Amino acid sequence: MSQPDSSQYTWAGRFAEPMSDLVKRYTASVDFDRRLWRQDIRASLAHATMLARQEIIARQDLADIERGMALVVEEIEAGTFVWSLDLEDVHLNIEKRLTTLVGDAGKRLHTGRSRNDQVATDIRLYLRDAIDDILALLDQFQNRLLDLAEKEAATPLPGFTHLQVAQPVTFGHHLLAYFEMMRRDAERFADCRRRTNRLPLGAAALAGTSYPIDRSFVADLLGFEGVCENSLDAVSDRDFAIEFCAASALVMMHLSRLSEELVLWMNPRFGFIRIADRFCTGSSIMPQKKNPDVPELARGKTGRVYGHLMALLTLMKGQPLAYNKDNQEDKEPLFDSIDTVTDTLRIFADLIAGVSTRPENMRDALRQGFATATDLADYLTRKGLPFRDAHAAVGLAVRHAEEQGVDLAALSLADLQGFSPLVADDVFAVLTVDGSLAARNHVGGTAPEQVLAAIARARRA
Ligand code: ARG
Repeated sequence: MSQPDSSQYTWAGRFAEPMSDLVKRYTASVDFDRRLWRQDIRASLAHATMLARQEIIARQDLADIERGMALVVEEIEAGTFVWSLDLEDVHLNIEKRLTTLVGDAGKRLHTGRSRNDQVATDIRLYLRDAIDDILALLDQFQNRLLDLAEKEAATPLPGFTHLQVAQPVTFGHHLLAYFEMMRRDAERFADCRRRTNRLPLGAAALAGTSYPIDRSFVADLLGFEGVCENSLDAVSDRDFAIEFCAASALVMMHLSRLSEELVLWMNPRFGFIRIADRFCTGSSIMPQKKNPDVPELARGKTGRVYGHLMALLTLMKGQPLAYNKDNQEDKEPLFDSIDTVTDTLRIFADLIAGVSTRPENMRDALRQGFATATDLADYLTRKGLPFRDAHAAVGLAVRHAEEQGVDLAALSLADLQGFSPLVADDVFAVLTVDGSLAARNHVGGTAPEQVLAAIARARRA
């Protein structure tokens, strides 16, 4: 049995044999957690600054640590840093290199700290930055939605229920529905940020530390709003990451619904929009094809984000306090959720800016579905007929128009009067699409005037 090489293993003294290569690979996280390197160094520098201020390490140690970390940053940025599986994770890789560069000061960095509170701090810092990126991207996407909604504030579109023509809406109004979804998504991310933005460092392994540390000072240095109050909770919970994945699942669900609509609207049977060629691909066999790959993929990627939420919930459900190695499995679902949401929002801002509408096809579709039937019923109701009777009379009129193969507005006054004597020649204003739209003139309604007002309110917010 060979003696472990103490230059390689941080904890070699305690062990009688080295790890097998398989166990090393199985337990290491450096391949995926090295993306935390900036946060790891930032948190280490804050910790070291506090240690020196509290006279737990010497000023010279702090100076050496700062000098060494600057070199580590240079090496990582230049791509010359050697990441080693033997050193398990991002934390041990950086600490080891620091020690090689500056000697004993590097070995003093871990005083009063554990990888358990270290990793919890790094993830929170990383996630906080990711949320800030996502909030900026949501804002950008919302602005693109508003731009298009403003341009199409008065463009009539068949509104569907059950995917059948229901009532006219404006395309602008339809887009504003997605704006509202994104507004709530942004609120959820911002809310999750508040709970993410707390400092675990100082919890050490699980119980705190015997050194006279100053956690509030470290929290201030790192821009945290406060410290995690309980050391066991600080190192072991990942509810902030689960909340993030839940918010991610919801925003992806919204984008997936929009994707589905874009795909349908692009189909020539609808022909409502064109999306720019840069978001489409062709077919290797069918020369005529232009496929909406980007919205299709967004719809598809929604599934993996749902999966990550479920993975994290399941990861946590059976864990006793405090830290367990299970928690190392939090990173890949979290990172992939961040990447997927970030990329999807970035691409959707551009995608929406590249949508061009085909209003003549939207109007054609409206003429085929008796979209103003409700308006006719409301008209009769205003003239004194109880709504249920009006509904029945219009039902008969629609059946008649359908048999004739024409829209309600194409029936003669005499024909319409056959269904109700209350019909007069002012009925035709009511039966037009534009009349129907203009009539829905209240907050939250589809009248072009209201759409423009909603856009103005949204821009002010
Ligand atoms: N790589 C570990 C993780 O991601 C760091 C913490 C390890 N702590 C420990 N006691 N083994 O969770």
